[in-house]
Amino acid sequence: MHENIILIGFMGTGKTTVGRALTQKTGMPFFDTDDLIVQKVGKSIPDIFKTSGEKYFREMETKVIHEITETSGKILATGGGAIINPDNFARLLLCGCVIGLLASEDTLWHRLAYDSERPLLKGPNPRQKIEALYKERAHLYRQAHHLVMVDEKTPIQIAEEIVLTIRQAQGHQ
Ligand code: S3P
Repeated sequence: MHENIILIGFMGTGKTTVGRALTQKTGMPFFDTDDLIVQKVGKSIPDIFKTSGEKYFREMETKVIHEITETSGKILATGGGAIINPDNFARLLLCGCVIGLLASEDTLWHRLAYDSERPLLKGPNPRQKIEALYKERAHLYRQAHHLVMVDEKTPIQIAEEIVLTIRQAQGHQ
């Protein structure tokens, strides 16, 4: 498997943990767009949002997506909003096999309810924010090359399912 494997999905679908499990299974190196942004800017994601705003964060996100997709052979976990920008999404679809991780609303809420690292969920009524954002984005995640439901599966099980799906799509079992 030489092409990139790119994980997209809403916050809380487990892109980073599944990405690490995929690295264990395939030996391909793992990258995460949020980590790359943090390294580039030298601040945490909440600090970037607080001091420079979402627009700047999205610009950095686009920059790291362009840089990291110049080469192949890696596992890439993207931030939940990385695919809002149509150019980013088109590039990801061209640069590898894009896997959409899907979770039920209950799973998302369970995982995100007490989160303090995600600036978009800050403030009163985070559940309403999750529902509104999910409604806006769900149709985008579904445009991935393959979809995997994550509810009640371990990261390793999900990684195995992804590897199998890609192998089958490539024509070998
Ligand atoms: C965001 C998701 C986050 C992070 C930032 C914005 C989003 O990544 O990029 O807080 O817009 O959905 P995770 O999906 O890894 O939480």
